[in-house]
Amino acid sequence: MRAVQYRTIGDEPEVVTVPTPEPGPGQVRLRVTAAGLCHSDSFVMGLPAEQFGYELPMTLGHEGAGVVDALGAGVTGVAVGDAVAVYGAWGCGLCHACARGAENYCVRAAALGIHPPGLGAPGALAEHLLVDDDQHLVALGDLDPVASVSLTDAGLTPYHAITASRPWLPAGSTAVVIGVGGLGHVAVQILRAVTGATVVALDVAEDKLRLATEMGAHHVLPSDEQAAAAIRRLTGGVGAQAVFDVVGVPATLEIARQAVAVDGVVQIVGIGGGVLPTGFFSTPFGAWVRAPYWGTRAELMEVLDLARAGAVHVEVEQYSLDEAPVAYRKLHDGTIRGRAVVVP
Ligand SMILES: NC(=O)c1ccc[n+]([C@@H]2O[C@H](COP(=O)([O-])OP(=O)(O)OC[C@H]3O[C@@H](n4cnc5c(N)ncnc54)[C@H](O)[C@@H]3O)[C@@H](O)[C@H]2O)c1
Ligand SMILES: [Zn+2]
Ligand SMILES: [Zn+2]
Repeated sequence: MRAVQYRTIGDEPEVVTVPTPEPGPGQVRLRVTAAGLCHSDSFVMGLPAEQFGYELPMTLGHEGAGVVDALGAGVTGVAVGDAVAVYGAWGCGLCHACARGAENYCVRAAALGIHPPGLGAPGALAEHLLVDDDQHLVALGDLDPVASVSLTDAGLTPYHAITASRPWLPAGSTAVVIGVGGLGHVAVQILRAVTGATVVALDVAEDKLRLATEMGAHHVLPSDEQAAAAIRRLTGGVGAQAVFDVVGVPATLEIARQAVAVDGVVQIVGIGGGVLPTGFFSTPFGAWVRAPYWGTRAELMEVLDLARAGAVHVEVEQYSLDEAPVAYRKLHDGTIRGRAVVVP
């Protein structure tokens, strides 16, 4: 089968032919119907050799959807022909976090060498994908795989951060989203769907600010040195009860630090290499700072239900497997509108 692999540190990913995998006991094989491209892939492919923690070659793609096309011994939870989305934050299934469905916070995955597909395990940017357990599949039902595949990360990750912030976001509150890319444009919609907050979106690109307005942001602002003061003005000097930094570079974390309200919350979603010092001489009194990772299995089901209800969608740019390297270049350059999705 054909697959998109990152093969050599510093090089672009390549489209190669690899053996079609056979499902072992407990595993499920999918015929991939859609796979999303995430900025985290760009981040990983930008790491120097000494910081690169995966084995090469690595088949990319941690947002996957497909149709079940082969079952390993003992699998009874799904049947050949089922349309499914992949929950990618694979855990051990046995620890306290996994028992709650929060496999994204599994305490044993690293020690057991369990990796998400596309981030260590062979990923969804291929004609077929092996899923290690049928519990890592969620029925798509009548949802279109191309339109919904990115809900498994670009939807789930902001949904997880926003769900944890809901006590901060009653009617009359203000939520800030910094970075209106794949995750950010869905974050704006989720905030509108599940909270009473006024939504302020920031980006460095004019077209992304227009996208934010289309997605339901009440206010948009350029992401610059004046942004925090502008947010203070919009909130009568109080600041934002929740800031979702979906970029995570020093400049955006500085905006978050200056814009968050007393006793507010900063969720650092973006993996931009920045850190936000927290304490009496940095963040406001009582402010909470957190770096959430991906989301829980139950939250993935909830995000898919939000899409079924018509409350959130993903703006998709569609590519073929052969075009995946070009799509990654566009993602790196910041010129994708919404999410790039590959259809093998
Ligand atoms: N925490 C997690 O579990 C998790 C999951 C998925 C992705 N991520 C991370 O989230 C981030 C966003 O991923 P994505 O796939 O949505 O990326 P993307 O490339 O689709 O979007 C990034 C957006 O940020 C904007 N941007 C860049 N610099 C900015 C700045 N200084 N201020 C404001 N906006 C700026 C870009 O114009 C673009 O619109 C990445 O760092 C990615 O690694 C984290
Ligand atoms: Zn991702
Ligand atoms: Zn676990």
